[in-house]
Amino acid sequence: MTDSQPGPTIPESDIAEVAAVLRRSARPVVLTGAGVSKESGIPTFRDALDGLWAQYDPEQLATPRAFRRNPKLVWDWYQHRREMLAAARPNPAHRAIAEVETVLPQLVVITQNIDGLHVAAGSSDVIALHGDIRRNKCFDNCQGDPTLVDVAALAWDRDAGPPRCPHCGAWVRPDVVWFEEMLPAAALERAYDLSHSTDVMLVVGTSGVVQPAASLPFAAKQHGATIIEINPEMTSITLIADWHLSGPAGAILPLIVAALRAVPDHPPEGPPDA
Ligand code: OAD
Repeated sequence: MTDSQPGPTIPESDIAEVAAVLRRSARPVVLTGAGVSKESGIPTFRDALDGLWAQYDPEQLATPRAFRRNPKLVWDWYQHRREMLAAARPNPAHRAIAEVETVLPQLVVITQNIDGLHVAAGSSDVIALHGDIRRNKCFDNCQGDPTLVDVAALAWDRDAGPPRCPHCGAWVRPDVVWFEEMLPAAALERAYDLSHSTDVMLVVGTSGVVQPAASLPFAAKQHGATIIEINPEMTSITLIADWHLSGPAGAILPLIVAALRAVPDHPPEGPPDA
């Protein structure tokens, strides 16, 4: 495993080697976490407990039980997070990942983030394991899972709390995964399938502690994939990474994309040698 430091101290040879491995990939996958959005100014999940929200523990706000107990409190916290997100734009990391697709069109992005910034940056195949904070759904999924609700089309008394489902009258909630909840089954199944078949997995900006997403790099490694981690810190994934490029994703990924473009064109030769 090669561990490189950020910026000018990252050996160009490491960037070139990673780019060459990526270029030869037949089934590349990128797994991202909150770190890839840090340079967009998105507070991490726990940073969003600021100001008046600091008195709460995430588990008091991001669970079905918390919502049932106090739907207005939970809805207002997500409105607070949506307002913080409204000004956020994709950063160079998101844009670099989207640009990889111009060289490797088969690239798939699996993200734990709910900010929608990979799609906004132009990535065309994104699996949002934890949902999307910009979407809302019926708490009872009365028309099927998920029963998405366009709240822009609804009028409701905001002081009373969330809007009501136009189909069944149940509360409307954010379309995100809460603690104690299962991930969307189809998304998770596809994420596991891709992790079992990928030959190169880029793991960007995740602490690797939240399951089941954290198990995907290990599944990929067990099936013979090359693991490339980009993170200023070491994580549990670092232990199995073939490369750990230590630094901000917004600085490192553009270097990799530039090197990727410099790799001579040739058809993927199947799984690269690790
Ligand atoms: P974390 O906040 O647990 O970890 C963020 C990771 O990004 C850390 O390892 C940082 O070192 C790294 N990092 C920070 N700045 C970075 C940068 N500029 N470039 C690259 N990496 C950087 O976030 P996640 O691992 O994504 O789950 O876990 C967050 C999940 O926990 C959320 O999806 C949420 C929460 O419980 C649900 O909501 C279900």
